[in-house]
Amino acid sequence: MSIKNINLNEEKDTNVLCLPSNENHVNEVKILLVEDEFIIADSMRMALKYRGYTVTNIVTNGKDAIEHAKTENPDIILMDIILQNGINGIEAAIKIHDLYNIPIIYTTSYYNEQLFERAKIASPYGYLIKPCSDKDLERTIEIALNKHKLEKKLQDLNKELSDRVNQDLIKIKQIEQLLIQQSKMAEMGEMLNSIIHQWVQPLNAISLIAQDIKEAFNFNELNEVYLNKSLLLLNQQVNFMVNTIDVFRDYFKPNKEKKPFDICSTIKEVINLISKQLTASQIEILFQCEVKEEDAKEQLFIITGFPNEFKQVILNLINNAKDAILKKRRSGFFKDEEIGSICIGLSKEMMDESEMVVIKIKDNGCGIKDELRDKIFDPFVTTKGETGTGIGLYMSKVIIEGHLDGKIYAAEIKEGTMFIIELRLSNLGGN
Ligand SMILES: Nc1ncnc2c1ncn2[C@@H]1O[C@H](COP(=O)(O)OP(=O)(O)O)[C@@H](O)[C@H]1O
Ligand SMILES: [Mg+2]
Repeated sequence: MSIKNINLNEEKDTNVLCLPSNENHVNEVKILLVEDEFIIADSMRMALKYRGYTVTNIVTNGKDAIEHAKTENPDIILMDIILQNGINGIEAAIKIHDLYNIPIIYTTSYYNEQLFERAKIASPYGYLIKPCSDKDLERTIEIALNKHKLEKKLQDLNKELSDRVNQDLIKIKQIEQLLIQQSKMAEMGEMLNSIIHQWVQPLNAISLIAQDIKEAFNFNELNEVYLNKSLLLLNQQVNFMVNTIDVFRDYFKPNKEKKPFDICSTIKEVINLISKQLTASQIEILFQCEVKEEDAKEQLFIITGFPNEFKQVILNLINNAKDAILKKRRSGFFKDEEIGSICIGLSKEMMDESEMVVIKIKDNGCGIKDELRDKIFDPFVTTKGETGTGIGLYMSKVIIEGHLDGKIYAAEIKEGTMFIIELRLSNLGGN
């Protein structure tokens, strides 16, 4: 015999099976009963009530079971597997399992292996063969509730743990960003120096042109053509100076978004920025880009990332090379006529079936002592006392390996030092 859904909260409903007030409530456990056999439903309700549980509702089909699971949020659901109308208990249980975190105990009058296999999908907390004793009913419910409580605790702990890990990751990222900016600032003095060196020449030129205009005036040679020519020359010098400042300003801007950029021209930009200063320190800088003659160099070395971060790495390595050369010179280890030199090489190589760009930065400076070799990429490791920060190489590693998915290491060479950077080329189609 089938019954309609029974709403225990509305006494006026003619189909309602009203429960007497729940003075037996000991553990305040709310149970939704899904059962379409009237006699079984009633006897289970009585048994549950006797054991101190609150039956919030008795529903007779899968659709209502899902609906009531949502609106009543019971602590546990006793679900009949075979329901006559609409979707059966297993399908309803699967839905409830996917949508709401409510433990389900299956109830059935007969055991069927195939049915049991399907029923497992909803990860039930128990399986009761009807009719069952009150004791079995209570034991199964209590075990299910306990298991669910423990699982919930575990879930909460997992969530708390992953929240904490996420927060820590955000913090690490912020600190990393701060360090990148800080190491940029550490290079500020060097950069100012290089601007001064870059400006010496145009400032001299401007002064000469001004002098020349004055003399032309004194000798009555200053006409419109002469003046225009001089103004053009002045403009060229001023533009050069403004350009230097623009590159400098651009370098200190924080990174906004990743974009594809060409390694070859980016390295050239850095070299341009610093070459005058190196020349003043009697250090030559050579740049070699190994490509076939017919290829357009600028299109061959495209990678995706923050160009400013990459510039920062190259600048760090060049400045370290410069320091190493100056140290060797101070120690008097350069032979007669020998000058300091920094060579930067750029080439493409196949590695593990991927096309890679390899950058080699080599200097003939003092070299790295063997015992220091393993430590130089650690933060705050410096041999420069007060003038060093020890974050240049550390940040270079963070940028190359963390942000650009590449590799950076120091190779062992006979004289001086060589740093090698390997990066995966961006596949932009055709490069
Ligand atoms: N090209 C190089 N030649 C010799 N030693 C180097 C070179 N590059 C880095 N080092 C060593 O690695 C250390 C760490 O470098 P870095 O992290 O840039 O910090 P800093 O330059 O502030 O010391 C340097 O102090 C130096 O001892
Ligand atoms: Mg450094």
